[in-house]
Amino acid sequence: MTDKNELFSLLINGTAQILMDEKNRDEKFRAICKLLRQNVSYYDWVGFYLVDKERRNELLLGPFEGEPTVHVRIPFGEGVCGQAAELRKAFVVQDVSKEMNYLPCSANVKSEIVIPIFKNEEVVGEIDIDSFILEPFTKEDETFLRKIGEMVSGLL
Ligand code: SME
Repeated sequence: MTDKNELFSLLINGTAQILMDEKNRDEKFRAICKLLRQNVSYYDWVGFYLVDKERRNELLLGPFEGEPTVHVRIPFGEGVCGQAAELRKAFVVQDVSKEMNYLPCSANVKSEIVIPIFKNEEVVGEIDIDSFILEPFTKEDETFLRKIGEMVSGLL
């Protein structure tokens, strides 16, 4: 096992622990953001976007850790987050300067990964991670974040 997989396996255990804690939904989301951001050196902004229950083709910013963002509401199809929600698939952007459909948050951000969260085969939210490093993400990140998405989908 690589070091990265060992770390991810510890973080999966930590997430399971948070989900069992006596906390409300947003506190759990925030604790998971904090856990991931503090432990993965290249996860510089970690947040959840949740599908708006009234306008089901829009994402609303949920709990996050990192710099504040102006992108509080994102229509499906817009930016990396909106594309991931519309196409129901993970987006890994190793260099955001090469992504035409991108909503910039901070000039420091070099790359981004977005993983949809499904419930009953519907997209109900997303995990969004920005990195200040170019090309930091591997298949391991995608597998790890899919697992976290499956674990938290019960909260939605
Ligand atoms: N860059 C995203 C917007 C959200 S921020 O990264 C927090 C996008 O293109 O959808």
